[in-house]
Order: sequence, then C-alpha cells, then structure tokens
Amino acid sequence: MFDTTHFPKAEKYWHNGKFYAWADAHIHPMAFALHYGGSVFEGIRAYKTANGPAIFRLPEHVDRFLYSAAVIGMKVPYTREEIIEAIKLTLHESKLESAYIRPLLFYSYGNLGLVPKFCPVELVIGTWEWGAYLGEKSAAGVSVLITHRPRVHRSQLDMNAKLGGAYVQSTISGMEARAKGYDEAVFLNLEGNVAEGPGENIFIWKDSLLKTNDSSESILEGITRTSVLEIAEDSGIKTAVGPITKEEFFGADEAFFSGTAVEITPIIEVTDASNPGTKPTKYTIGSGRVGETTARLRQMFEDIVTGKIPRYKKWLTYVAS
Ligand SMILES: Cc1ncc(COP(=O)(O)O)c(C=O)c1O
Repeated sequence: MFDTTHFPKAEKYWHNGKFYAWADAHIHPMAFALHYGGSVFEGIRAYKTANGPAIFRLPEHVDRFLYSAAVIGMKVPYTREEIIEAIKLTLHESKLESAYIRPLLFYSYGNLGLVPKFCPVELVIGTWEWGAYLGEKSAAGVSVLITHRPRVHRSQLDMNAKLGGAYVQSTISGMEARAKGYDEAVFLNLEGNVAEGPGENIFIWKDSLLKTNDSSESILEGITRTSVLEIAEDSGIKTAVGPITKEEFFGADEAFFSGTAVEITPIIEVTDASNPGTKPTKYTIGSGRVGETTARLRQMFEDIVTGKIPRYKKWLTYVAS
C-alpha cells in the first residue's frame, strides 16, 4: 500500500519512541496537522565517511526544529537531547550509509477547530536514501523561473521557522516552475529583491565577491548557507551579506543554490516572469556553465560532509554502523 519508489531503502520510521515498518501507518485522517499544516519539520542529511555514516550539523538542525516548534506554540514532549538521540537511533536502525532524515513534530488527533487545544504533539522521524534533489542536472547547473508571487514577507510569518503550512507557497511555485519547463522556482520578496528558492538559499559571485542575503530579506537563513559563508571565509574568498537585486542576479558571474536537499547546485539560467504584464525574459548566468568558484565550493562541501577535511569534523555527528 505504501510504495517506496520515491523513498528508496526506507524500511522503518520512528514514532513517539517506537519503530514501525514503513508500510505500517497509523495516524488518524482527522489529525490536525493534515488539515491546517500545524507541523514543523527538518531536513537533514547524513553522509558516508571512512568512520561510518555522519550526520551533518545535527545539533544546529535540532535547535532550529525546536525554534520552529516554539514559533507555532508547540509544547514538545521531548528534550533536545532526546530528539538528537532518536535521530541517531533512526539512522542507525536504517543501516543506511548516507541518507536524508526527516523529523516532523505535528499536532495530532484531538479536535479540528483552528486552535489545537486537545491535540497532542507527536514526533516522527523517517529516513531514506535521497540523491540530488534537482536531479541529474544538479552538477551541470539548473534553470530557474522567478515567479510573480513574492515570498511571504517576514512581517507576516517568521520565515526562519520551518512551519508545515508555510510551505504551501513553495509547493505551488515549485510546481509552476516545473510545469513551465524550468528546474526550480525563485522568489522575489515584497521589496522586489531576490529572496530564495522554495527550499534553497541563493548565492551570487561577481567581481571576486561571494554574496548572499539574510532574514531581513524574508528568507530562511539555512544551515548550509551559514556553512558556505564560513567555508568561503576560511578559504580566503571574500563574502558579503546583503540584499541581492534582480539586476545583480542576472549580471552575476556565477550563482548557486545552497540547502540540505540541493547541497550546492549551480544556477546557469534565469527567466524573469516576476511581472505578469510583460513577456518573461531569459538571462544566462556568466558563461552559462558551472563557474570556477561554484565548482570549488561544491568540491569542498563534498569533502567536508564526507569527513575528508579535519578542520570541519566539528560539524559531523558520527553514527557507528
Ligand atoms: C525555504 C528554505 N530556504 C532555505 C533552505 C536551506 O536551508 P538549509 O541549508 O538549512 O537546509 C531551506 C531548507 O531547509 C528552506 O526550506
């Protein structure tokens, strides 16, 4: 009944302290979160290293998970340390060498008024093997569509929180971009600057400066983003944080997405459809091929997550297989 075509090697999931077979689902259809998006989630990756699987920046992910839960007023029935241990245990049980890990806290079955007064908060953790998020083109570079819908503004919702319901905007725009033949969507913000992708941050490289924006531009300040900034600085690459205008994006020498799912994925073409009254305009980023700085950062990131650079082992939580 629950086919695993799109969850390769998924065998078990953790729910409220117990493991269940992947096909054994037992959450009621009247669970609050299913109706109103009353949930918070994390996306985490574990990588194969010489010392067994290692989870990238696990404490930071769990801290953000709990931050998101606080934003939606959840009383989480687990401590930070219990969640860390449950995630490690789920990965260990899966026997996977590299994996995507999805913890979810949600308001469960209780009542269906818009205030989940009688809904317990439950925790599930699933893990499976997930390759490149944007598919085969990830290495060679992707094309993006700037949609006409601005990103939800930070004055309306805390965009640093991963709230289930808030992701409906990501789904709508991601579907629109793919239906029109692009690999991914990009949002502007209400100020008209470049914000982020549906689940990715954006970097540009121009005149030897690596630039990204921050949460004052209505984005989620990703953990990969923070890592890339640190790696770049450590490697002598000059960085800047500030608003990215559309013109800066189109005129960049290089651009890339960063995120747990996409890792570092070059962007080589942008189509601006942000003004519904005018014909979309296509721009090639730089040479239209993966640039040197993007390629260098991609390689460094891969070496770091797979434990090949001692300086960054501080970011890895090893889970003995
Ligand atoms: C909206 C959004 N922006 C950016 C990111 C990248 O964040 P991270 O690098 O922490 O995965 C994500 C993914 O979590 C996201 O959902």
